[in-house]
Amino acid sequence: MKRLAQLLYLGASIIFAGCSSTSTEEQFVDDLLAEMSLEEKLGQLNLPVGGDIVSGAVKGSELDSLIVSGKIGGFFNVKGVEEISRLQHLAVERGPHAIPLLVGADVVHGYETIFPIPLALSCSWDSTAVERMAKISAIEATADGVNWNYSPMVDICRDPRWGRIAEGSGEDPYLGSIMARAYVRGYQGDDMKSDSSLMACVKHFAFYGAVEGGRDYNSVDMSRENMFNYYLPPFKASVEQGVGSLMTSFNLVNGQHSTSSDWLINGILRHDWGFDGLVVTDYNSIPEVATMGCTTESDAAAMTLKAGTDMDMVSGLFLNTLCDALERGIITEKMIDDACRRVLRAKQRLGLFENPYKYCNPQRTKDDIFTTEHRNVAREIATETFVLLKNQGSILPLKKKGKIALIGPLADAGNNMCGCWSMLCRDDLHKSLLTSMKEAIGDSAEILYAKGCNIYYDETTQLMAAGLRQIPRGDDRQLHREALSVASKADVIIAAMGECADMSGESASRADITIPDTQRELLKQLVATGKPIILLLFTGRPLVLDWESENINAILNVWFGGSEAGDAITDVVFGEKVPSGKLTATFPRAIGQIPVYYNHLMPSHPDPQDGVFNRYCSNYIDISNEPLYPFGYGLSYTSFDYGTATLENNKLSVEISNTGKVEGAEIVQLYIRDKVARIARPVKELKAFERIAIKPGETQRVTFTITPDILGYYDSNGKFVFDPGEFEIMVGPDSRSLQIVTYNVN
Ligand code: BGC
Repeated sequence: MKRLAQLLYLGASIIFAGCSSTSTEEQFVDDLLAEMSLEEKLGQLNLPVGGDIVSGAVKGSELDSLIVSGKIGGFFNVKGVEEISRLQHLAVERGPHAIPLLVGADVVHGYETIFPIPLALSCSWDSTAVERMAKISAIEATADGVNWNYSPMVDICRDPRWGRIAEGSGEDPYLGSIMARAYVRGYQGDDMKSDSSLMACVKHFAFYGAVEGGRDYNSVDMSRENMFNYYLPPFKASVEQGVGSLMTSFNLVNGQHSTSSDWLINGILRHDWGFDGLVVTDYNSIPEVATMGCTTESDAAAMTLKAGTDMDMVSGLFLNTLCDALERGIITEKMIDDACRRVLRAKQRLGLFENPYKYCNPQRTKDDIFTTEHRNVAREIATETFVLLKNQGSILPLKKKGKIALIGPLADAGNNMCGCWSMLCRDDLHKSLLTSMKEAIGDSAEILYAKGCNIYYDETTQLMAAGLRQIPRGDDRQLHREALSVASKADVIIAAMGECADMSGESASRADITIPDTQRELLKQLVATGKPIILLLFTGRPLVLDWESENINAILNVWFGGSEAGDAITDVVFGEKVPSGKLTATFPRAIGQIPVYYNHLMPSHPDPQDGVFNRYCSNYIDISNEPLYPFGYGLSYTSFDYGTATLENNKLSVEISNTGKVEGAEIVQLYIRDKVARIARPVKELKAFERIAIKPGETQRVTFTITPDILGYYDSNGKFVFDPGEFEIMVGPDSRSLQIVTYNVN
């Protein structure tokens, strides 16, 4: 039987090279399904964790016996082509029906060559850069045996307390959708059967970015209007782009767990959007359906299968309880068949039946991972993601001369450059900022280094915050003294401070999103020296920088820039590269302002925005409504002037001139406001943008076409509607500084 199956695979491979299923491919899957026992089908739905990617440990014999007995459809978190190849051989040579395995991993912003965290990548507003990074991630991951990637995370997030804001593209559905498509294109390529393509897995379906209080794993309560217009579009865009798989989320949504939500999976995803790919649960999320009070544990698996989910990540409940559920009549065999068919189809789309070992080439492991070429691209892309928040007196870029004090716990922490979800990175090989800067300036200037402080005063808090990437501790008072002594000898101070790498990402929510205590105190002391000071801000989320924005001369937000961050930051600090990133998530002025996002609705008593408190208006007694740094904001080393925007027919155009001394890239943004609609529409919504490089003295014209699809919106039933009437069309360098033109549509 195995032999026959192999021949069939070969036949299929000759006839069909594409990645969408044809009727013969479907027939192949159906024939295979017909040969399988119920237990074997359930085996395909089971996805255990295969190892511990952090420590490199593999579950060994346990996994082997599951494979040989046909009890798994794939595994994840095993690093290394040799082990993966061994397991794949086991499945094909000794497992029932020679069915190859899916091999998953979280390759979120690079494999061993690490790129900036996704939030930073989105600040480049450069979808080609994102696609390039995804392609390189796919080349490296597939060279090491992986075929399925748990990325992109496309959760829209308006709450910077949530640590996972670092993993997504920020708060905007339009930009988020463009980035989602770019990730999928990069991972899957034109042909998912290529040896260097990964199957992407868009996650987390859905609304996870809106967990209450920004606390991870919390619940979500949301209107349908909000869902359809803001949180679902990046998922829909990924499906339209042909994403192969989708992961559910950990949260309840309006009282139902997303993992077992028939409305979400069978309804929106499969019925409305026509998704026929694979749906996998998030890590152990089936038993959570019970924990969160939706059903009993024994029924959770049945409910999840019924809802249209195919694969059970980790819990084993599909494998161990669905037979019983079938006997009890609460699920049908067709439901199991449908799920199994989708697992097999995913394998087929990857070309695994034609060649199960296509990802098991040890030569590629040697040649294609962490290459100089990939690292150069990572360095270049990183420079596009930094956001210059303030640059008083054009203090940046620095000249390579004099004495430069480099101070802060992140200045010499090569292991903290990559940020969350970079378990496969080579920490030991990453240059710290100190090393990069010393290399770059050679003898032309002097770097005076002091660590300056810990991340937190409190040792336990730091231990928790730093996770596996600890930064050795010292005595804060002593460290502060050393830093002040170093600063006193310098012409300029660079402070490398903020969050350490694991203070954002999964399970890394913060209630206080300021720069931690000891660092902020040291910053105050450094400012008191009166020397010019630049803050290089490491962070995985928007922070509250009220004091810093007032008192520090320049702030360059460098996020977590990846394995090449040290060099990339150095390139920008010394002006080899000009910053061009713009924020994709609003920076609040105070924690009490959260949630604060640009595309909000108009309150009933609007704030006149005259800078003072107005009683009976929607404002705060103690702070302005305005965020500290708005969505779309970011400075350059040059300046751009916008001419008067003109609207002719449905074309809005504007001239942008570079009035400074260096070439720079500007991100021209177009927003709309629907003035009168069936339901209230936001005060502005991003609908288009263009990233242009302009030479000094040069002027370029940018034209946007206003089409019905950018003027419409979703109603509460998920129907796309359009209300004719008056619109405002806005254009400018960020969501705050906009020219407004009126546009009437009948
Ligand atoms: C995360 C997912 C991830 C999965 C597998 C979960 O805890 O929520 O994003 O893909 O683990 O590592």
